[in-house]
This record gives sequence, C-alpha cells and structure tokens, in this order.
Amino acid sequence: MALVDTKKMFKAAYKEGFAVGAFNVNNMEITQGIIAAIAEEKAPLILQISRGAREYASMSYLRAIIDVAVAENPDIPIVMHLDHGDTFETCKQCVDDGFTSVMVDASHSSFEENIATTKKVVDYAHARGVVVEAELGQLGGIEEDVVGVHSDDVMKHLTDPDQVVEFVGKTGCDSLAIAIGTSHGAYKFKSEPKLAFDVIEEVGRKLPGYPLVMHGSSSVLKEFKDLINKYGGKMPDAMGVPEEAIGRAVKMAICKVNIDTDLRMALTAKIRQVFCETPGEFDPRKYLGPGREAIKKMVKHKLHVLGCAGKAAACL
Ligand code: 13P
Repeated sequence: MALVDTKKMFKAAYKEGFAVGAFNVNNMEITQGIIAAIAEEKAPLILQISRGAREYASMSYLRAIIDVAVAENPDIPIVMHLDHGDTFETCKQCVDDGFTSVMVDASHSSFEENIATTKKVVDYAHARGVVVEAELGQLGGIEEDVVGVHSDDVMKHLTDPDQVVEFVGKTGCDSLAIAIGTSHGAYKFKSEPKLAFDVIEEVGRKLPGYPLVMHGSSSVLKEFKDLINKYGGKMPDAMGVPEEAIGRAVKMAICKVNIDTDLRMALTAKIRQVFCETPGEFDPRKYLGPGREAIKKMVKHKLHVLGCAGKAAACL
C-alpha cells in the first residue's frame, strides 16, 4: 500500500472513539522504533516531520526511510504529515514533495490572516489530493522554531469555540488543532495539570463529526524522566499531560494526538544510561539500539492509551 491521507483513519477514529498517534521522526532509529510498535500492534500511523526535521535529516533521507517502512508494512495505513508548516511556501513544498497531509499553523496571526493563509494552503493541497490540518488558538512552549505563548498563559489563549464554525467553513480545512491548555516540550505545567475539556466538548458540539487534533500531548513519562535525572541529566521539573486525560480526550472528538517529547526522552534516557553504565562503549549501535527498543516499547504502550491498537484494518 502507498502512503495514505488521514480521511479514513479520522472517520474510523471519530466513530469508534480512539485517536491516531502522530509521532515526530528525525532519523532512522526513531522511525524504526515507531514502525516496529505499530506493526506489532496493528495500529494506523501518522509519521510527522517538522521543518526542523527536514533541515536536520534532509527530506530525501527521511522519505527513503519512510518508503521502506511503508513497503514492509502493506497492511498498515501510514500518513506522511508536515507538522507546523509556518508559511504557504513550506506547505507547498511539502505537497510537492509527496506528503499526504500538511499542517498549516498560522495561529499566531489574526483570525482573518489565519483564515487567509489556511485557505491558500487548502486550495493548493486539495487540488493535489492532500489533506490539511489547521490551528485555532495558541499552544504554549517551543516546538523547534515555532514559539508558542508562555506556559503560564496557555489558559488565556484557548480556542474560542465561537470561532470554529466560521474558520472551518471559510478555509475548508480537514482537521483542526485546538488549544486546550497543553504546551509543546517537557515543561507543560508547574502544578496540577489542567486541560480544558469544556473546550473540546463545546467545539465538538459545534462541529459534529469533525476531527480535532491535540498537540503537546506527551506525558513526560516518569520512567524516562527518572533515568535522565539519575544519569546526569537535569529535568527535575518536567511535567506532561497525564495519560488518563489523553484517554478521556480521545473518547471525545480528538482523533489525532501529537507526540514528540516522549520519543526524545526515551531515546535520551537510554543513551545516558549506556554512557554512564559503560563509559568505555563507543559503538553507536550499543546506545542507539537500546534507545530504539525503548521507543518501540513506549509507543506500543501509547497505542493502547490512544485506543488505536488493532485498528489498522478499520482505517483502510
Ligand atoms: P510534545 O512536545 O508534547 O511531544 O508535543 C509534540 C507536538 O505537539 C508536535 O506538534
């Protein structure tokens, strides 16, 4: 099977109350860890690539790695998605490069400008059979070069449910990322994590049957945070979205859940552990291998949190 878009998977996700995991990839080991997990769990998959990932690895290498993953897993629907396209030009380039889904993030401009930029991307992408995710409201934290609002202020920049019908109607976007109090990165909350479930509920009511997207969804798993801190790292105040909250959101209209930080922390934790426990080791396979295995185990677990394990066939 060739790469697919998100239409069938979001339809199944909405109907059956699960979400598809959207995992960020930057290199071979991260991709292989994710693919091994979805192959064992028979889950649909969105592999997402940020502008930073394109610059780091180069699109031709990433594309070749993803092509192998697709060829080796003919029964699994896999989407290649642009994460946070900040301009029309970036989105256009990705459509031209064969992405099957792009995100245009003009959420930092005015409502009118966001509509105009999103509509321009939608017109270009739809004419070439590519689906578009847009964003309304603002997230916190830093996603590579996309700087969000300060995490203390996220609750002031939530998606306004009164704007969503006009936004989706005027742009024609296929899915919508909403701001519900999460931030990108490992420092999402200073105290008790809080998500605006009332916003998901209200937006869901205004857009029945329409797929919503949750960014900043890493949980900052204790296992990896502890390993990082034990083996010389310094992330004492890291805090993520509790998995019970994610489980609750996916039963609502959230059909796509974005995870990057948990992948980074799994890989970093294992590399730190190998470096500290066996300081004489200098074969990259001896630390990247355990990192890849940790990613696989973590992603398998996430697929159950999202409810999409075993759902590959339902998305075809
Ligand atoms: P995390 O930093 O919580 O993994 O979020 C990633 C994300 O939303 C990418 O768009």
